[in-house]
Amino acid sequence: MTILVSGGCGFIGSNFIIDWLSREKEKIINLDNLTYAGNINNLSSVKDNDDYVFIHGDIGDKSTVSKILETYNPRAVINFAAESHVDRSIYGPEPFIKTNIVGTFHFLEAIRSYWENLAEINKNNFRFLHISTDEVYGSLSSEAPPFKETNPYEPNSIYSASKAASDHLVRAYHHTYRLPTLTSNCSNNYGPYQFPEKLIPLVIYNALSGKQLPIYGDGKNIRDWLFVSDHCSAIRLILNAGKVGETYNIGGLNEKTNLEVVQTLCSILDELQPRDDGFSYATQISFITDRAGHDRRYAIDATKIQEELGWQPIQSFETGIYQTVKWYIKNSDWVQNITSGAYQDWIKKRYAV
Ligand code: NAD
Ligand code: TYD
Repeated sequence: MTILVSGGCGFIGSNFIIDWLSREKEKIINLDNLTYAGNINNLSSVKDNDDYVFIHGDIGDKSTVSKILETYNPRAVINFAAESHVDRSIYGPEPFIKTNIVGTFHFLEAIRSYWENLAEINKNNFRFLHISTDEVYGSLSSEAPPFKETNPYEPNSIYSASKAASDHLVRAYHHTYRLPTLTSNCSNNYGPYQFPEKLIPLVIYNALSGKQLPIYGDGKNIRDWLFVSDHCSAIRLILNAGKVGETYNIGGLNEKTNLEVVQTLCSILDELQPRDDGFSYATQISFITDRAGHDRRYAIDATKIQEELGWQPIQSFETGIYQTVKWYIKNSDWVQNITSGAYQDWIKKRYAV
C-alpha cells in the first residue's frame, strides 16, 4: 500500500514523512515543487529508505499528478502543499492564488479522474485529506470562545482567504462528486525544520545572530501553539478513522501572546546558550510597525477530534518549546544553509525601516 503527500519538503510535511517512516510499513510518495520553503535536506535522514520516493513537481500540473497516481496507485493523498506565510501574501498575493486555489483545483481534478476509475472497494476506501488552518475562521475577540468546526469562515489575509477557497473546493468535490475527502484546520505549529521567516525560528535565529527580535504592534496578539509532531499524530488519526466529508479542528490548548512566546524563547536561550556579555536576549526585543490586517487572536476548540478520534497532544508548550530551541541550536548548519542567499532579500524587504 502507498500514500501520496504533497508539500513534503516543507516544515509540517517533512516532519510528517519522518514520523510516518519511523512508524508505518507503507510507502510514501512526496510530490513537491521546491519553492523557497521546500528543502530537500529536511529529508536527508530518510532519502535512502526503500519506502520513500521524492518527485519534483507541482500539484497544479495535472499530467504529472495523473502519472504519479497511475504509477503508484495510492490509497490516500494528503495535501500539505501551499504558500503558507501571511507576510509574504501581503507583499505578493499571486503565488497564493496560483498554488492554494488554482493548484488545489488541478490537484483535485487529477485525483477525481483517478478515483473515479478505481475498483469499487478501493474507491470506498480512498481518502483525500486536505491540511488547512484555523486562520480561515478569522480573528477572535478576547472573550470569544475558541473556534469550533461550525464557526463561519471569515478569512482576513490573502493567505487565509486562499486557504478558505481551497477548503471550499474540497468540500464541493465531496458534495458534488462524492470524493472521499477530509479536512483538518490546525492552529500555529512550531518545531524542527520550520522556515525561519515564521515567528519562533526567526526569533531564535535573530537572537543567536545578535539581531533585533521584531514584535509586531503591541505584542499582545494571541496564537494557539501546537508542537508539530502532535499535529502529525492528529493527521494520522484523521486519515485512518476520520468520517468522510468531515472537518476536524486541531489545536494546542496553548494560547500565548507573541510577547510571552518571545520572552519564553529568550529565557530558554539565556539558559542554554547565554550571551557573552551576560545580558539577557530579551534586551534584543524591538517593537515594530504592525502587520497589515493583523488578526488579534486565534484559539481552537479541539473537542471534536478528542471525543470522536481520541486525539490528545503529547507536548505542553513548555516541553515543546524547550525541545525546539535545543533543536535549532544543535542544527545551526540547517539554519545557516537556509539563511544565506534569497532569505536575506526577504528579510530586507519585510523588516526595512
Ligand atoms: P511550508 O511553507 O513550510 O511548506 C510548504 C511546502 O509546499 C514546501 O515544501 C513547498 O515547496 C511546497 N509547495 C508549495 N507550492 C507547491 C506546489 N504548487 N506544488 C507542490 N509543492 C508545493 O508550509 P507548512 O508550514 O509546512 O504548512 C503545510 C500546510 O499546513 C499548508 O497547507 C499550511 O497552510 C498548513 N498549516 C500550516 C500551519 C503552520 O503553523 N505552519 C498551521 C496550520 C496549517
Ligand atoms: P507567524 O509565525 O508568521 O504565523 P501566523 O501569522 O500564521 O500566525 O506569526 C505568528 C505571530 O507572530 C503573528 O501574530 C505575527 C507575529 N510576528 C511578529 O510579531 N514578528 C515577526 O517577525 C513575525 C514573523 C511574526
